[in-house]
Amino acid sequence: MRRPMVAGNWKMHGTRASVAELTEGLSNLVLPSGVEVAVFPPALFINQVIDGLAGKEITVGAQNSAVQPEQGALTGEVAPEQLVEAGCKLVLIGHSERRQIIGETDEVLNRKFAAAQAKGLKPVLCIGETLEEREAGKTLEVVGRQLSSIIEAFGVKAFASAVIAYEPVWAIGTGLTATPQQAQDVHAAIRGQLAAEDAEVAAKVQLLYGGSVKAANAAELFGMPDIDGGLIGGASLNADEFGAICRAAGN
Ligand code: PGA
Repeated sequence: MRRPMVAGNWKMHGTRASVAELTEGLSNLVLPSGVEVAVFPPALFINQVIDGLAGKEITVGAQNSAVQPEQGALTGEVAPEQLVEAGCKLVLIGHSERRQIIGETDEVLNRKFAAAQAKGLKPVLCIGETLEEREAGKTLEVVGRQLSSIIEAFGVKAFASAVIAYEPVWAIGTGLTATPQQAQDVHAAIRGQLAAEDAEVAAKVQLLYGGSVKAANAAELFGMPDIDGGLIGGASLNADEFGAICRAAGN
């Protein structure tokens, strides 16, 4: 069956000192063996975190990567090839902050998704609707379109080596969480959309929920049949809280 995953998205937080402290806290956690645990530090700290977590069963990923797989003339970007060399295994693609604040379009995200996979970096594709879209009854349409963008470009089998994170934009960093049933409904629709193309891919892909997940609400969310873990923002900056969320996924 699907292995649960709990991933911490540190966003643009941290200094050398705070990253050292958080990494130390993570090293000391007792983590459930059945759960895949990952953290996504700012690119600047990836080496520091990989060194600090040496020997610990925590995967390190990047929050972003370039539209082309190899190093080259692309100022300010980091290539999937470089991330892999550093020891990264995963990369977030299409987080709503990058879609909305940086203006990344589905077309750009498709290129990033493919570039990452070309180097064996597993994309965690983030999709989700805004509050306005939810209130207009467009949640499944929006999420379906974001997913279709990848399926149409690369085929559904692209999700055989990718993870999907459903993150309602209105729940990110707001303290508002989708109810377990609201999240489950969208997760079931995502899996259904994949299953219509390929039942095996749909059954195997890990679908994470993100948006104000904390130790206090994690177990209930992770208890839903199509929720395979979480993408955790704010609560991942505290090692003990993050550890508690990982344990919730292990139960
Ligand atoms: P949050 O962020 O847990 O702080 O709401 C989740 C995310 O943006 O990945």
